[in-house]
Amino acid sequence: VVGIGGGATTDLAGFAAASWLRGVPVVQVPTTVLGMVDAAVGGKTAIDIAAGKNLVGAFHPPAGVLADLSTLETLPRTDYVAGLAEVIKTGFIADGEILRRVADDPQDATGPHGRHSRELIERSIAVKARVVAADLRESGLREILNYGHTLGHAIEKLERYTFRHGDAVAIGMVFAAEVARLAGKLTQQDVALHKEMLTSVGLPVTYRAGAWPELRPTMSLDKKARGTRLRMIILDGIGNPVGYDSPPEDLLTEAYQAVAR
Ligand SMILES: NC(=O)c1ccc[n+]([C@@H]2O[C@H](COP(=O)([O-])OP(=O)(O)OC[C@H]3O[C@@H](n4cnc5c(N)ncnc54)[C@H](O)[C@@H]3O)[C@@H](O)[C@H]2O)c1
Repeated sequence: VVGIGGGATTDLAGFAAASWLRGVPVVQVPTTVLGMVDAAVGGKTAIDIAAGKNLVGAFHPPAGVLADLSTLETLPRTDYVAGLAEVIKTGFIADGEILRRVADDPQDATGPHGRHSRELIERSIAVKARVVAADLRESGLREILNYGHTLGHAIEKLERYTFRHGDAVAIGMVFAAEVARLAGKLTQQDVALHKEMLTSVGLPVTYRAGAWPELRPTMSLDKKARGTRLRMIILDGIGNPVGYDSPPEDLLTEAYQAVAR
């Protein structure tokens, strides 16, 4: 099976390949930034059913991934920028050079012909490949890739999946940074760096102030949560992701103020 398209397509192609004859090889040809740096690389495949997103799926690593940057030329800018959220995430959790390259010329980073565009994508893929090679089934290290995703997934669910994944993750990273600041692990400057970096490429960093009571219960249903106990990935200093179990409720509520609009 060859999957050519964005993450929605390569997830479906991967799942078809995982299921057909109990598994045939899949080659993924992602045509979005998000697909290149995230969806097509990790071996997670899934389809959505009426009961929820990604509920039917399998781990089925691709036999190969061909990321042809020329396919990005037709990608709408909003989709390109949404993919940059995952690139910047990789910068915050593992590769500070990514942050420096984005900061060097943020506008330049928002399209496929930027000076650093190729390197930004390559560096992100390298981090993802390294992490999933060490922990395909998310029994440990892989959870660091979920940075920004706890609130991000709750926003996507509340928006009935009409909100771009990368946009939701961008807001989720600012929230996670503020949680870390309140927990004494990041500085005010680190939180400001999150906001500046994300807004400089055009990503959102705020969400409706009144949405917190709806978002909070969904966060505990997230698959990273253990039972109904909330577990988030936060940074103990830039580049050092750690798990944070059962953050105090008042801390979470206060942290939401950092993204409330
Ligand atoms: N398997 C994983 O580990 C994983 C990780 C992250 C996200 N995902 C999944 O990936 C999906 C999001 O992926 P996405 O951001 O690529 O979105 P997408 O697949 O929905 O594609 C976004 C839009 O861009 C269009 N498109 C794709 N390539 C194009 C191109 N080169 N030129 C013009 N238009 C193009 C698509 O038709 C679509 O309208 C979600 O379903 C998410 O659940 C999976």
